[in-house]
Amino acid sequence: MYCTRKITDNITWVGGSDRRLALFENLFPISRGVAYNSYLIADEKTALVDTVDSSLSRQFLENIYHTLDGRSLDYLIVNHMEPDHCANIEELMFRFPEMKVIGNAKTLNFIRQFYDMELEGRTITVKEGDKLELGRHTLNFFFAPMVHWPEVMVSYEETEKILFAADAFGSFGALDGILFNDEVNFDRDWLDDARRYYSNIVGKYGSQVQAALKKLSALDIQTICPLHGPVWRTDLAYILDKYNHWSTYEPEDKSVVLIYGSMYGDTENAVNVLAAQLAEAGVKNIRVYDASSTHVSVLISEIFRSSHLVLASPTYNAGIYPAMLNLLHDMAALNIQNRTVGLIENGTWAPSAGKSMRTLLEGMKNMTILEPVATVKSALKKDSRDSLSQLKDALVASLNS
Ligand code: FEO
Repeated sequence: MYCTRKITDNITWVGGSDRRLALFENLFPISRGVAYNSYLIADEKTALVDTVDSSLSRQFLENIYHTLDGRSLDYLIVNHMEPDHCANIEELMFRFPEMKVIGNAKTLNFIRQFYDMELEGRTITVKEGDKLELGRHTLNFFFAPMVHWPEVMVSYEETEKILFAADAFGSFGALDGILFNDEVNFDRDWLDDARRYYSNIVGKYGSQVQAALKKLSALDIQTICPLHGPVWRTDLAYILDKYNHWSTYEPEDKSVVLIYGSMYGDTENAVNVLAAQLAEAGVKNIRVYDASSTHVSVLISEIFRSSHLVLASPTYNAGIYPAMLNLLHDMAALNIQNRTVGLIENGTWAPSAGKSMRTLLEGMKNMTILEPVATVKSALKKDSRDSLSQLKDALVASLNS
């Protein structure tokens, strides 16, 4: 049975939610599921904006047929050619033989790379700034390359001032009946998943996101329709401000996130002691994470959020403990920058994790490493507790600066 929501009188959400998928991209845990959004514009011409993942094909087709109410589909706009959104292109081409697929030159190349469908006479190639007249509605196409794939474009409907934003402004999380941001407490219930989605999937491409935001700032946008998560129809300044922070790698919060690897609990103990010292010094909203048991996507998201980090690692194979090494590699890959970092190393006979972590952090842009690096030899003792206290003082001074 169809399950749709109206965006406006003539524009309908025809997507769906997947609560069965454990790992998005076979990589990111999604305990709250994920939504794949698709939008159908019914005017003199009918146009579908993007499709959905193959897991939702049955629901998606029921939604489309219900919304079309006996009409045919004239256009399919492909804003993004990643398979979570383009899995139903061929099925729609079979079912609607008059339908034209609209994309840019890269989009159409990617369709040919992914699929073996007969495209002759079935496509329209658009360029930056091209328009598509549907009747009362007109779509304008703007390219957003590398947000986060090269073919990505967004479509702006000028009559109702709606931006179809591809992956931008999306979030993990099934929609649970709701569709709009004003139907949820976004800051409480969705922001962490929106940040985790952005930071891990788009995070590397901050400068490209900035370029797209600058281009779109010339438009009068009243509603943002992303490909995942809630549609934004109020308080657009809130999510635009978040995107501005994330894409410039500026923290949202002045706070401390402490992340440790620990084999037998001694490095964890050092982190707990430092966290308690920070709290006693008046630092609020401290968060502590075990890198071995916390998915790296959560840690990356927290690093995007917070101004100050503490990384604590045992020395392992004369280097960094694997879970921490994985995090540092991910931080570099995702272009993390502009953070202040305290370091704790542990080692029983030749502690060197601090030096190795420093080398990797110095390869990132504009990272400030606080002194001293606290060294624990096997377990925390008076001298190493004193160095933790000095690191606490350095963190507090930096937070208050
Ligand atoms: Fe939701 Fe980049 O695909």
